Formats: sequence, structure tokens, C-alpha cells
Amino acid sequence: ITSLPAPMFSRNDVSIWSILKKCIGMELSKIAMPVILNEPLSFLQRLTEYMEHTYLIHQANTTTDSMERMKCVAAFAVSAVASQWERTGKPFNPLLGETYELIREDLGFRWMSEQVSHHPPVSAFHAEGLQEDFLFHGSIYPKLKFWGKSVEAEPKGIISLELPKYNEAYTWTNPTCCVHNIIVGQLWIEQYGNVEVINHKTGERCSLIFKPCGLFGKELHKVEGYILDKSKKKLCAIYGKWTECLYTVDADTFDAHKKSDKKNSEEKKNEEPEEMPLPDGDTVQVIPGSELIWRIVPRPDNSAEFYAFSTFAMQLNELEEGMKGVLPPTDCRLRPDIRHMEKGDMDSASAEKKRVEEKQRLSRKNRSKSSEEWKTRWFHQGTNPHNKAQDWLYSNSYWDRNYSLLPDIY
Ligand SMILES: *[C@@H]1O[C@H](CO)[C@@H](O)[C@H](O)[C@H]1NC(C)=O
Ligand SMILES: *[C@@H]1O[C@H](CO)[C@@H](O)[C@H](O)[C@H]1NC(C)=O
Ligand SMILES: *[C@@H]1O[C@H](CO)[C@@H](O)[C@H](O)[C@H]1NC(C)=O
Repeated sequence: ITSLPAPMFSRNDVSIWSILKKCIGMELSKIAMPVILNEPLSFLQRLTEYMEHTYLIHQANTTTDSMERMKCVAAFAVSAVASQWERTGKPFNPLLGETYELIREDLGFRWMSEQVSHHPPVSAFHAEGLQEDFLFHGSIYPKLKFWGKSVEAEPKGIISLELPKYNEAYTWTNPTCCVHNIIVGQLWIEQYGNVEVINHKTGERCSLIFKPCGLFGKELHKVEGYILDKSKKKLCAIYGKWTECLYTVDADTFDAHKKSDKKNSEEKKNEEPEEMPLPDGDTVQVIPGSELIWRIVPRPDNSAEFYAFSTFAMQLNELEEGMKGVLPPTDCRLRPDIRHMEKGDMDSASAEKKRVEEKQRLSRKNRSKSSEEWKTRWFHQGTNPHNKAQDWLYSNSYWDRNYSLLPDIY
């Protein structure tokens, strides 16, 4: 499919300030938000968008040089957050026990995820290459903070990619995402922070900076960094924009280029811009000798009408004939509030959202009375074997499709 059943509503009529002024400095996961600020996807589905550029992982698998593999993996890590571009709607908070699966034979992967904790909200996911060339998994705890004019989402949690063919594991964390002009003006998205992709077998790492946009928007959306060997020697540079494309070039060439660039402009940073910055030339300035490693798939023409969705996102709610009776009853596609919103029926969406959230509260209350503990179905808590951090590990049985013991959450 290439569109949703109904276009989005204008958010102009809602006084967002009247809702948000009580919450400055608070963590937003505990506050019930009106549905009009949402997009008709669950956060579990939003996470699945990491997989839009899965070809980069297949490419990593077929490359025998570890530095070349790191280029592909780093490009995949950046491409995974490219779907955030212009996505100012908030995904629905998943209910405890909610799940989402996606099989894309054309892209060569299958994915499943489960909401494994409610407070704090933690989403665990596990994906595998259909030809067994990779495993991709992680658990994400999006910490949202409201700063008066902006909302900042810090995606705590670890992401791991394994390439069995090379016995390699890579881990990284995502950059912070910030939505600006929550109250007045045009909403826009910035991502900033350091992302370090580590190859735990070779000790190589790719150290990337997602730059804050800076004064006059000069640095808007820019990403740059180096691939380093285990003695921290620069092997090559990577640069570009997470909204557009990434290039790689020899590290000395990159440093020389930066030096001459710097002479031409004095830099100022870390000031929050009032207006949405307009980048001067909107494409990446290509340094001679560079090689393109990733370019974003353009959004479809009707994207602005449909929550700035990519074609990939547009298909996430699709309920194909063969899926009925095969999907578990906890799958996001069966969530009534999201469905109503997608059809443009905001009143029903809002009523159903309240109802399922209330049901969740009641069943938690029931459990606390009976000293019964919540049991996650497809993941268990454990230690990430590669970086030893607390993580959620896949229990390896989702695709057997044994749905006994599943909770009734909708
Ligand atoms: C992974 O790479 C190896 C080595 O190039 C290759 O033999 C294998 O077919 C690849 N697997 C896939 C699914 O591409
Ligand atoms: C909570 O427990 C009551 C009484 O046992 C039951 O009727 C109700 O369905 C339960 N609610 C949920 C959401 O589990
Ligand atoms: C499904 O899972 C339940 C609970 O773990 C188990 O008792 C049952 O035997 C399983 N059914 C099948 C067909 O494997």
C-alpha cells in the first residue's frame, strides 16, 4: 500500500501549551497525552523502522574486510534513525505485553518485539536475516523530557548486531532526538550526541557525532566521525547528514578539508535556535575522493498528508488476509485506538486509548492484590554477552507461534 485510509488532522487547533505547562521538567511517559499529538503507530512499530535499510547489513556480511564491514554497519546505525526526519507525531506508548512482528522477504529479515516493562517503558526487539546472515537485537527505554519549548527523547538501551559468518558482534546506542517548537512555530526535529559503534571482536570502532544544529543552522543534521582501529589510529572518516546520505573518505583528506573549512567560518555552538534553521545549501558538500555509503530513500509525495511517513512506515499497519488468525492477539495491528486514529476517527481513538490504558491499570491492580508477577512472554532479562550491560534477551520461541499464556490487553 502507498497511503493510509485517512489524512492526518491539523494540530493547529489544539492548545498544546494548556496540556504541557503542568509538565515542565517531568518525564512524559507518566502523563496521558491527547491522541491528536500522536501518529497512528505504536512505538514498537516505530522501532521496526530501523530495518528500512537492511541491505546495508547484507552488504556488511558479503564484505571480507573488517573496515569495510564497519562502514556498512555504521551507515546502518545512522540510516536506522533517518526515519525520524520530520516525524513530529508521537507514537502510541505500547501496552505491557503488546507485540509486533514484521516479515519482509523482499528485504530479507523477520522481526519481532515485545513491550517488556511499563514503568519504565522498555521495548525489546529481535530480528534475524532470513538467510541467517545476521541477528539484530536490543532493548530501548525512551526517556522523554519536556524543556518548555522542546521535548527531548533520550533512547536509553543497547543495540547489538551479530554477523555469525565472521563471529562478530557490534553494539551501539542511538543519539538523542529533540522536537523543537512544541508550543508555537513550526515543529522540527534535531538529533544530537555521540554514537559509538564497537566491533567487539576486532576492537575497531566507529565514533560518530550527530551535531547539534548550532547558531544559524550551519551544522543542521550533520553527522561525522572516524573509524578507528583498536590502538585508536584513524582508519578513515565518515561524514554526511542523517537526513540525506553518508560518505567515507581517507582520514587525512577529511582533516585537511575541515581545517580549510574552519578558517572560512568561526564556529559558535550550543545555543538553542528560536526558528527552524534553514541550511544554506541543503546537500552535503562532497570532498573529492569520497565514496557514497548510504543514501536515504525519498519520502513519497503524499508523505506530508500522512504524518511524514516513509513508504516503509505506511505499510506497518497493513493487515494482510493471511495474517488474521496467525498473528498473536497482542499484535499492534489489532490495537483499536491506533486503528481508529488511522481512519481519522479521533473521538473513538481517544475513547479506546483511555479504555485500554484503564484496562492495563486494572490488571496491574489485580496482580498486586494477588502477588502474581507479570511474566514477559518472548524475552527475559539478562546480561548482554558483548558489553555486559543489563539487557533483554530473546527466548527463541516466538516463531513457533504458541499463543497459550498470552494476556488479553485490548
Ligand atoms: C554472507 O557472506 C558470505 C561470505 O561472502 C556468503 O558466502 C554468504 O552467502 C552471505 N550470506 C548472505 C545471506 O548473503
Ligand atoms: C480484575 O479482577 C476482577 C475480579 O477478579 C475481574 O473481574 C477483572 O476482569 C480483572 N480485570 C482485569 C483487567 O484483569
Ligand atoms: C504451548 O505452551 C504451553 C505453555 O508453555 C505448553 O504447556 C504447551 O504444551 C505448548 N503447546 C504446544 C503445542 O507446544
